[in-house]
Amino acid sequence: MKKHVLLELAELNDREPAYALVHNVDLVVVRYDEEVSVLYGRCAHRGALMSDGYIDGCITCPWHGFQYRPEDGCSPPPFTEKIATYELQLDGDTVLLNPKALSDGTERPVTIIDELIDTATAQTHSERQNNA
Ligand code: FES
Repeated sequence: MKKHVLLELAELNDREPAYALVHNVDLVVVRYDEEVSVLYGRCAHRGALMSDGYIDGCITCPWHGFQYRPEDGCSPPPFTEKIATYELQLDGDTVLLNPKALSDGTERPVTIIDELIDTATAQTHSERQNNA
């Protein structure tokens, strides 16, 4: 699957939703502590842009307050709304997105910045060894 360059880590502020448009689909990107999440960017209620919302444990819609958990796009119980999630990868400081949406409410693999940086570093080291 071809990965899409989404943005640079430096463009993401902690707990500030960011907007992205990929293949004409609105997305919301969220960094919270050392994790990054990408969800479908429109609220399941009436389609507000989730990037205009705020982070309060969940991503909270700016219009009527629907909330979605960043790890799976599900509203917390007792609510049942869901939005799609996306897989991410980190290449150095660049956040790469698999543009194929996971099903609404699918828990995506946690994207932890430090681990990904370590992985990227390890691959680079490994490549160096192969080239030696
Ligand atoms: S549009 Fe999001 S809660 Fe209404």
